[in-house]
Amino acid sequence: MSFLRRTAVAAAAFALAASGTVLSQTPASALENGLLRTPPMGFNNWNSTQCKADFTETMIRGIADIFVSKGLKDAGYTYVNIDDCWALPDRDAKGDLVPDPARFPHGIKALADYVHGKGLKFGIYTSAGTHTCNKAGFPGALGHEQQDANLFASWGVDYLKYDNCNNQGVDAQQRYKAMRDALAKSGRPIAYSICEWGQNKPWTWAAPVGNLWRSTGDISDKWSSMIAKAQTNRGLAQYAGPGHWNDPDMLEVGNGGMTAAEYRTHFSLWAMMAAPLLIGSDLRKVSDDSFSILKNTDVIALDQDPLGKQATVLSSNGGLVVYSKVLANGDRAVALSNETTATATISTSASATGIGSASSYTLKDLWTKAIRTTSGSISASVPSHATVLYRLSSGASRYEAESASLSAGGTIDSNHAGFSGTGFANGANAIGSYVEWQVSGPASTLTFGYANGTTTARPVDISVDGTVVAAGVPFPSTGAWTTWSTVSRTVALAAGPHTIRLTATTADGPANLDYLDVSP
Ligand code: GLA
Repeated sequence: MSFLRRTAVAAAAFALAASGTVLSQTPASALENGLLRTPPMGFNNWNSTQCKADFTETMIRGIADIFVSKGLKDAGYTYVNIDDCWALPDRDAKGDLVPDPARFPHGIKALADYVHGKGLKFGIYTSAGTHTCNKAGFPGALGHEQQDANLFASWGVDYLKYDNCNNQGVDAQQRYKAMRDALAKSGRPIAYSICEWGQNKPWTWAAPVGNLWRSTGDISDKWSSMIAKAQTNRGLAQYAGPGHWNDPDMLEVGNGGMTAAEYRTHFSLWAMMAAPLLIGSDLRKVSDDSFSILKNTDVIALDQDPLGKQATVLSSNGGLVVYSKVLANGDRAVALSNETTATATISTSASATGIGSASSYTLKDLWTKAIRTTSGSISASVPSHATVLYRLSSGASRYEAESASLSAGGTIDSNHAGFSGTGFANGANAIGSYVEWQVSGPASTLTFGYANGTTTARPVDISVDGTVVAAGVPFPSTGAWTTWSTVSRTVALAAGPHTIRLTATTADGPANLDYLDVSP
């Protein structure tokens, strides 16, 4: 991270700290089970099958097979989860839940073993109520928390989705904490997904309770439903972080109710919001188009970024929405999302993302893979319901001469227009007169902005950390003191702090120096 980027991050942290209301609502600590340091990725059958007859162990095994054979496991998809309707309506004589033998003739443990055999993890579902949500009335875990947690652990369950139906009006925090404690006592690490649909504002209390919490009601496979979930969830960025995520519900990509552009928007926004990426379509039947969306590793990398920041909304005007997500290496992800029914131009800027000042930036379009540079403006024509998704990298970090050290007699002046920042360094007219910057590597190119209004070049030695790396580098005439140009040299700067000094080798001293750009 460059000095400028670090400064920007520190400034952002200070701005947050200065806002007492924000901090007081941010939960103090996350659930300390060490799980889901990045949002969960995997599969859940609900969005494609609900409780229909095709929800069986054959299907779930088929999904695990496809995770491996089609490269989804390699892309990061890990959890293969089953939803409601896996059990019989009655517990057995010992009070244990019983898998439905018509759907799971080999039982749940055999299925979990199969999934584990593929190097994947297995998840299950029940409700924090007397029954699950399905009308057939499958038993829930309210009052049976420890017995059910122990049974799940004995089967090798790695993930529990804990629903909210038939809760008998018992306080939500009480119900969800009871299962948290039961899972902890089961002795098996089990990721814990709170599914109370945002009814009790779980983002304000659930970070120490679960690894993720639904922020919305159920998604369905249409644009209006999907975008409504995004609109609710995007306001909750401050509550998400490693081990504790907002959950706007599972993916619909591949289920057929939206256009390809709408599914790309769905996947883009879920990745920006550090949401769970739980595939909700029957992968045995989906098109290659859907696989190419689900396997876009550039987009997945945003979701799985180790910093774990959810995107914030930079602007939202009449359905034209700009999101920005801070990434661990200092880059920003930027989404230009068009919720309207007509093509529109959506614009923002590098500086609006807080990436820090640089003379140029790289923009990679994560869907088309096109790469271009920009001096700061970020703008695209975005079709209806589409999202243009960029990864923004700083091409260079700019160090103004105003922040440099000058040898005796040098001054920071502003009497010749056209400089950047607030002035330029006017070094003393003498051999040995110098201008020195403290910069951060890694970098490979140093570019000096300068003006030389005389007709004679003003050469300097360029040194890095006290060693001359380029001797007698000429800074030729620019024709006028108000005409600014650049001189560049390739240098290998390792990561970390460095001192860059330009030392005049003639009695004229150095040219007027405006800035130093340090480029990767
Ligand atoms: C609720 C949940 C859904 C699904 C169903 C199953 O509606 O929110 O995600 O688990 O129950 O009945």
